[in-house]
Amino acid sequence: MIKINTSQLIKIAIKARDNAYTPYSNFKVGSALLCSDGTIFEGANIESASYTPTNCAERTAFFKAVYEGHKKFESIAIVGGYDNIERDFCYPCGVCRQVMMEFCDPKTFKIIIAKDENNYKEYILEELLPYGFGPKDIEI
Ligand code: THU
Repeated sequence: MIKINTSQLIKIAIKARDNAYTPYSNFKVGSALLCSDGTIFEGANIESASYTPTNCAERTAFFKAVYEGHKKFESIAIVGGYDNIERDFCYPCGVCRQVMMEFCDPKTFKIIIAKDENNYKEYILEELLPYGFGPKDIEI
């Protein structure tokens, strides 16, 4: 298995951002989700004329991965913003944090929020979703 570093994962998210479908907001987000076995799933946001069905970049990557049979994850890199405007850090929305909670260990899953491959912040899921509710909470 080839070991991938944080900068490489961010570069993949930056490239994935090009595949965003954002005719309504023009706000493009890319993600790169690293599975425990080294597989990487890319995602981008996909919008809808009726707005609500819009799918964020993070969920696109998770749903692709889960559909392909992957359920163990290490980290996700996220890059978002408008073209031609200096990029700010783009944090995952609450719905995406909840999807992460479904599949990831809040104490170990890393969320990398990047402006570019040299300028990023790293969190564990628990920091971005404190006191989260997940599958363990409904175990009998
Ligand atoms: N969006 C993402 O894809 N991920 C985030 O972390 C925040 C927001 C998308 C949804 C919508 O297409 C656009 O960004 C503006 O909200």
